[in-house]
Amino acid sequence: MILFENVTKTYPRTTRPALDDVSLEIPRGEFAFVVGTSGSGKSTMMQLVMKEQDVTRGRILVAGRELDRLPERKVPALRREIGCVFQDFRLLPNKTVFQNVAYALQVLGSSRARIRQTVPETLELVGLAGMEKRMPHQLSGGEQQRVAIARAFVNRPPILLADEPTGNLDPDTSLGIVQLLDRINRTGTTVVMATHDTVTVNAMRKRVIRLDRGVLVSDMEAGDYTTGSIPRIRLDEETGSPRRADEPEVADGYDDADPTAYDEADEDDEDDPDALPPIGRDADAPRPKGGIFRRRKAVQTTDR
Ligand SMILES: Nc1ncnc2c1ncn2[C@@H]1O[C@H](COP(=O)(O)OP(=O)(O)OP(=O)(O)O)[C@@H](O)[C@H]1O
Ligand SMILES: [Mg+2]
Repeated sequence: MILFENVTKTYPRTTRPALDDVSLEIPRGEFAFVVGTSGSGKSTMMQLVMKEQDVTRGRILVAGRELDRLPERKVPALRREIGCVFQDFRLLPNKTVFQNVAYALQVLGSSRARIRQTVPETLELVGLAGMEKRMPHQLSGGEQQRVAIARAFVNRPPILLADEPTGNLDPDTSLGIVQLLDRINRTGTTVVMATHDTVTVNAMRKRVIRLDRGVLVSDMEAGDYTTGSIPRIRLDEETGSPRRADEPEVADGYDDADPTAYDEADEDDEDDPDALPPIGRDADAPRPKGGIFRRRKAVQTTDR
């Protein structure tokens, strides 16, 4: 579980906080996207969870540890609980695929027997069985990212953080990577993914946490990039401050009095040959709809 309580992070020699009074809870086993424009604080949030940065104000709990009270000598134990994946893969260029993944276990002092068993299992999980002897430069970007994910997951951490893992990949490859993260999430690992990738976010129907210049402006269950189904908090467009979900809506072009217009749009959506198929879901689950529909049909919760 990851808990932020009124977290503010201001970097030295800057005036505006990179994160500004952010409170949120990501329960164990959840898959959450963190979205927002460049500079909105996504990477800062990840770095705080890893304790690569310290909060300026507020409190962070990660896997039962209160990070500002965590002594330096206990930071390695924290980081063993968190796998990390980055936009630029960060593989060791002179090591094979197998060695890259094995390295993560070697530094933890795992036995050779465990490495020989776990590394191939993990490579199979990420779809790279048979590629153990390849060097990173002999792999596509998507395959390199799969190696990086295998390395992050090989010791089965309870939390996986992915900071724009699809930033260097084409849309199809990106979807494959996010589906892989979804598979990892189904093993029980909490996954938090920072991204700009609207197509993927919209297709996955997962929780979407949105930052804007360091402020948490919306938090939606099964949301999409632009709107969502179950608002936890909303930004009041006039004042710029978070608004309770049960306060009146900001006008968004949706006409509550005339739902038929949207029902027609709903059918268009079904017929759209370019529409993405449902992914990461049970085959018999209903097809995801546009955010407007989902929001209208959803039960609103109060903010948390
Ligand atoms: N080490 C640092 N020192 C000073 N300022 C920093 C540092 N790291 C980030 N910032 C600032 O904090 C703010 C948030 O940056 P952050 O990297 O968290 O954003 P981001 O949402 O990850 O952006 P991007 O999408 O470009 O990766 C930015 O204004 C940035 O300039
Ligand atoms: Mg970033």
